[in-house]
Amino acid sequence: MKALITGVAGFVGSNLAAQLVADGHQVIGIDSLSDYYDVRIKKKNLGRLEGDLFQFVEGDINSTDLEVLLEGVSHVFHEAGQPGVRKSWGSDFQIYTEANVMATQRLLEACAGRKGIERFVYASSSSVYGDAENYPTEETALPRPISPYGVSKLAAEHLCGLYATNFDVPTVSLRYFTVYGPGQRPDMAFTRFMKAAVLDEEIRIFGTGEQIRDFTYIEDVVEANILAATTPGIGSGDVFNIAGGSNVSVNEVLKEVELIHGRPLTITYQDSVAGDVFRTGGATDSFREATGWVPKVDVYEGLKRHYEWAVSYFGSKE
Ligand code: UGA
Repeated sequence: MKALITGVAGFVGSNLAAQLVADGHQVIGIDSLSDYYDVRIKKKNLGRLEGDLFQFVEGDINSTDLEVLLEGVSHVFHEAGQPGVRKSWGSDFQIYTEANVMATQRLLEACAGRKGIERFVYASSSSVYGDAENYPTEETALPRPISPYGVSKLAAEHLCGLYATNFDVPTVSLRYFTVYGPGQRPDMAFTRFMKAAVLDEEIRIFGTGEQIRDFTYIEDVVEANILAATTPGIGSGDVFNIAGGSNVSVNEVLKEVELIHGRPLTITYQDSVAGDVFRTGGATDSFREATGWVPKVDVYEGLKRHYEWAVSYFGSKE
């Protein structure tokens, strides 16, 4: 395949690119290197991708010549977007609409009527569900996001459906549930917790810590992308949950991190943040039946690996 990966310098994009290159595929990656978090982290992610099979384009999907970018591309992995549930309120919403809605529409428009695009995989989000009525939540549940971020991810997912129905763009949307593992974004819970543990800093919890997440390990998400791109019989606007199956609370995670760390953590609790759902939990039967995918790394194993990475990345005081 010749893959185009958007958001290639990000956590999911860079891991996916590394796997595709290791599998012998040609990868062209685009990233705007936005400063939502330290750009040096993104450059480091790109650093591991050098080689003949990988080509990097620095640019914004909203202003790049997509015809040139898509030349010869057989598979699109649209991982780019403005992340962050809790930051999407206020005037920042414009950043979310541009990065998540406008950019997706522009990319889909460029793919419409183009020969050779075999699959278009879109990185959607569990945040489209909001506080769901049932757990594990099935893809057929009515999505009712409670954050502007979730609204933007859902809007883009609907666009993927529209372009599949009207213009035969072979889209598959993957609703990721809180992806973690070595190299996770620095604004997300696990990386923050582990960094604080390693550096003996305070961990701040939003709300009671009783909120539950269906955490999903990065390698499982990469595999899900590859299966979504290569499995026959899907690609007509399908939507799938990609969830690790953990069903644990943030407080349970903290207990586990404390065990792995071997010393007490310093934890403070503060008000919950608007837009943060109380619980996520995704049914993955549908994706398993379509592709055979099952998550391989459970949250206890995944936390150990994430911690080991954090120790080497942030350094131990000892
Ligand atoms: C994550 C990603 O940030 C979103 O981009 C993604 O779309 C979303 O998963 C998803 O699954 O759809 P979130 O679940 O909020 O969102 O991920 P974390 O940052 O890992 O937070 C998990 C929980 O820990 C949240 O309840 C959060 O409020 C809490 N948290 C996070 C804290 O208590 N303290 C922190 O310092 C960070």
